[in-house]
Amino acid sequence: MVKKKISCAVFISGRGSNLKSIYKYSKRKSSKINLKLVISNKDNVEGVKFSKKKKIKTKIIKYIDKIKSEKKILNHLQKNEIELVCLAGFMKKLSRSFLKKFDKKIINIHPSLLPKYKGLNTHDRAIKNKDKFSGCTVHFVTEKLDTGKIILQEKVRILNSDIPEKLAKRVLKLENKIYPKAIKKILSKI
Ligand code: GRF
Repeated sequence: MVKKKISCAVFISGRGSNLKSIYKYSKRKSSKINLKLVISNKDNVEGVKFSKKKKIKTKIIKYIDKIKSEKKILNHLQKNEIELVCLAGFMKKLSRSFLKKFDKKIINIHPSLLPKYKGLNTHDRAIKNKDKFSGCTVHFVTEKLDTGKIILQEKVRILNSDIPEKLAKRVLKLENKIYPKAIKKILSKI
């Protein structure tokens, strides 16, 4: 019997390189997800252009009012029977009530070795602190920023010659690799 694929939504705010890597994974024969929906709080960003080009259902939620916006998002998730949400550079924090109402899996990718460097400017902080390694983490989402059980984490070495932009590039490459791996990992038990 062919197993039904898990319906997945990706939330973005910009460039969408992780969206692209999740999309690519979803197109593999062996993939366990069907990428059904993209939510963006910004119009005209690279990620939105990509999802429209690939004909993925794409909804722009402008977040003028947080409560109303979350309500709209929840409706779209329910209408599309979404079972897995992947945050990929989505710059809005989801409220406790949203997380309660959507009781399916929500995961996020963060460009640091969590629990180190929650929030922004992670590469700058890692270099300033003279860390030997940076990396990225995929984790379950809770109401607290960049916390929640870690699913997968991988490291890159910080070089003496590194500046935040260079390090960010190497970490992003790794992010694009590990996001699909993390999805596979959490769905392997289903
Ligand atoms: C990534 O570095 C991700 O870890 C962070 O935001 C960035 C999004 O990049 N949360 P992209 O839009 O997926 O290219």
